[in-house]
Amino acid sequence: MIAKGGINKVGVIGAGLMGSGIAAQVANAGVAVVLLDLVPGFAGKAVAGLLKSEPAAFMHSRNARLVTTGDLETDLALVADCDWIVEAIIERPDAKRELYAKLQKIRKPGSVVSSNTSTIPLADLTQGLPAEFAADFMITHFFNPPRYMRLLETVTGPATRAEAVASISAFADMRLGKSVIACNDTPGFIANRIGTLWLSAGVRHAIDLNLTIEEADAVAGRPMGVPKTGIFGLIDLVGLDLMPLVAGSLLRTLPKTDAYHAVHREEALTTRMIAEGRTGRKSKSGGFYTMKRDGAARHKQSVDLATGDYRAEKKARLSSVEDAGRNLRKLAEHPDRGGRYARALLLDTLSYAASLMPEIASTIVDVDAAMRLGYNWKDGPFELIDRVGAAWLAAELRRENRPVPKLLDTVGDGSFYRTENGTLQAFATDGAYHDVTRAAGVLLLSDVKRRSKPLARNGSASLWDIGDGVACLEFTSKMNSLDPDIMSMIGRAVSMGKKEAFKALVVHNEGTNFSVGANLGLALFAANIAAWGEIEGSVEGGQKTYRMLRDAPFPVVGAPSGMALGGGCEILLHCDAVQAHAETYMGLVEVGVGLIPGWGGCTTMLKRWATNKKFPKGPMPAVAKVFEIISTAQVSKSAAQAQDLLFLSAHDGITMNRDRLLADAKRKALSLVDGYKPAEPVTLKLPGAAGRAALAMAVDGFAATGKATPHDVVVCRGLAEILTGGPADPIEDTPEANIYALEHSVFMTLVKNPASLARVEHMLETGKPLRN
Ligand code: NAI
Repeated sequence: MIAKGGINKVGVIGAGLMGSGIAAQVANAGVAVVLLDLVPGFAGKAVAGLLKSEPAAFMHSRNARLVTTGDLETDLALVADCDWIVEAIIERPDAKRELYAKLQKIRKPGSVVSSNTSTIPLADLTQGLPAEFAADFMITHFFNPPRYMRLLETVTGPATRAEAVASISAFADMRLGKSVIACNDTPGFIANRIGTLWLSAGVRHAIDLNLTIEEADAVAGRPMGVPKTGIFGLIDLVGLDLMPLVAGSLLRTLPKTDAYHAVHREEALTTRMIAEGRTGRKSKSGGFYTMKRDGAARHKQSVDLATGDYRAEKKARLSSVEDAGRNLRKLAEHPDRGGRYARALLLDTLSYAASLMPEIASTIVDVDAAMRLGYNWKDGPFELIDRVGAAWLAAELRRENRPVPKLLDTVGDGSFYRTENGTLQAFATDGAYHDVTRAAGVLLLSDVKRRSKPLARNGSASLWDIGDGVACLEFTSKMNSLDPDIMSMIGRAVSMGKKEAFKALVVHNEGTNFSVGANLGLALFAANIAAWGEIEGSVEGGQKTYRMLRDAPFPVVGAPSGMALGGGCEILLHCDAVQAHAETYMGLVEVGVGLIPGWGGCTTMLKRWATNKKFPKGPMPAVAKVFEIISTAQVSKSAAQAQDLLFLSAHDGITMNRDRLLADAKRKALSLVDGYKPAEPVTLKLPGAAGRAALAMAVDGFAATGKATPHDVVVCRGLAEILTGGPADPIEDTPEANIYALEHSVFMTLVKNPASLARVEHMLETGKPLRN
């Protein structure tokens, strides 16, 4: 290991896009970081900029205090005691080597230096530097933006010390939350090597096959499990001007036999757009897509690939996409333009990936993970090959007289992945299948599901045995929205736990979002047919179920990642503890649809704020605070921010690496088992009518200044009614049951209000709140 205590201080040199983002993520891990730049004063400005950036680079604004900024010329000594120094300066080997020579003179023995280079081979970077430097040097290639992109590609040289690699990899994994993938020292490493060819092929075939950019993105996006930005939307996002730089570097460094040379073509259109400053989202002149202003109106426009001029956006209508759904082979075999485009793109990209094994990585698992985590694909290239069929891909290549990669031939009519005795196996270049192993401390629910049968299952939830006497409750509904089946599975879990089928429960799933809240479609349907009894039952039932979970004789730990909204937030508020992924976005957002949190969200939040020792005592401060949080539908932008709002408590934990979340939550649940007693119900002192009048005045003020709409006023008054305790006497204690009952009655009044239903309907149709 490096210095005895591991990595306690990090230096980042180069405060541009990447360096500043990397420094912020180190600070997010709670580690002190020094950020230096060549341009005097620039590092300080970069941090100030990060504090305003969207999406935020810091998980909490206080993390900025961990970053010390300085100028390279005068402050280099600040990195002398760093355990790890990351170089993220201009992409030029001479500039980088010159910096390394300076660092070599001052850095502490055993410290590690790494480069964030995206294209320069490690051997070039260490040329002419002493052996002691090479022993402590490696490449750590982050993706933009460093906080959100989970991939970290590493490259080591023959001289790099194994302990240096182990220590940086462990830090990046556990503290920075990255999936660390070891790559060979080849141009573009894994993700950009494949990704750049994919983008080049995507542009080229769209032009040749006469597709609109909307059509191309409709084919290359969702159906292939790629973000809906597709090809052209992604190029807009990264910047058109970056493309020729990356392409140029690959063209220079890849052998002439590499397929990239044949796929790449300099497009007159992109050259012209770059010359005109139309470089994408960061440019005021637009990119492939743009927004044209016409007075107050804004119109979406896109580039006509034939003329290069803008025209009104044209929604793609392709029967290939409509007919094929998720069936990728069907899409690629469809005779229309979309089908031919899909086929051309898949043939180029997938055969390229297969041809690069084992040149770029040691396993296909690493290649797939790199594309999933670095490009946000749902499936990596080998998983995509399994979707179309390896034999089909080989046959299609043969039909076009194109070379068939050896690996594709070896797998024959088999698949690249298979499950053998409950274990996932991947095909390798040795022609055999090997178990896919996980790092120590990683527990994935998908692995548990592969090797076992659920303890219980219904249409929207399952219960799994995750070992050591711990069960995991998984939501499986669309977007993990909460419905009667989930409630019934919670009830089932509680009764099984009471019978000692397990000793602790974790609530977790591997969806993008933990839960988007109650299923609004069901609620709207019931309201439209005036099935009030149904709705009443679901409010009461939800409250009862969540309290039953809280009062169960075994510990319950929530383990969310992504959004936990509305009812999804409320279930976590009823858990004994939460182990949250650092990227957890919690909020009670019911007011947006004209409702209030009716499954105990108001009650539990009141309890948390009223009993918070750091918060002013007396009935009103807690009420006003919770009113503010719920009436403005505040959503935390990280787990750290959720702690500020008391959606998470001080004793709840945060896990940086999503792959380690379930194991951490399970450990937490087991730690609560001995001597476990469910929390006692509490009583609160609430301000009653006087408090309600004060809140009403504030709301009227917002309405008068146009900050609240007429229906906001109605909803807020309902919320005030609950939080102030309805008829409560400020001298008396209000039992929590009364507050739950108020939630119930106010919810029922609001759900019958046509203005609330209009909000629900609008949200379901557009995904956006209606401001009525
Ligand atoms: P950038 O241009 O935003 O920032 C570079 C910063 O380094 C500038 O603030 C510049 O003043 C400073 N700088 C230049 N020469 C310096 C020197 N000799 N000493 C100290 N500071 C110096 O560039 P960006 O995009 O942040 O890239 C930095 C590195 O990260 C490059 O190696 C790049 O290839 C790599 N990279 C970039 C990615 C991206 O998406 N932009 C993604 C992954 C890696």
